[in-house]
Amino acid sequence: MEHSCLKGTRATYHQYAMGRMEQIWGPDCLDFKPKRWLKKGVFVSENPFKFTVFHAGPRICLGKELALVEMKTVALAIIRGFNTVAEDPDQVPRFIPGFTATVRGGLPVVMQEKERSLKIHRQPTSILARSTPSKSLAD
Ligand code: HEM
Repeated sequence: MEHSCLKGTRATYHQYAMGRMEQIWGPDCLDFKPKRWLKKGVFVSENPFKFTVFHAGPRICLGKELALVEMKTVALAIIRGFNTVAEDPDQVPRFIPGFTATVRGGLPVVMQEKERSLKIHRQPTSILARSTPSKSLAD
């Protein structure tokens, strides 16, 4: 897709909107499909000029890899260590556009620590070891 503009024109882009555009991601762009990021079962990074969350080119985010590792570490610790259910299963989360992505009124959940025998590779110094069992985030 090529466009031209006059010299001096201010150009900007909207990452949130771009992440939801059919022209970029196809007709299923709004569906939660984590497998869309896998090719033959292996994660393959998207072109940063298409997935622009961390920007691209010479000004690409220098903390991108750290941010992704942090996100995966926290997600893994929670998924492995806790059963998490929404307090109100009928609540439809309402996204609030802003500098960071948040949910209107929050999304209260109940987190219950999984049985020790169900856990895999529990480390004594991990996030799990410091967590409080059966504690609601709303408390
Ligand atoms: C989800 C988390 C993050 C997102 C979405 C993000 C996104 C971005 C974006 C879009 C830019 C480009 C800004 C611009 O040029 O206008 C940027 C730049 C930058 N980010 Fe991040 N970032 C994240 C986490 C981090 C972390 C954890 C670090 C450091 C540990 C970091 C360090 C930087 C630095 C140093 C730049 C400036 C790069 C440059 O201009 O040379 N970021 N980030």
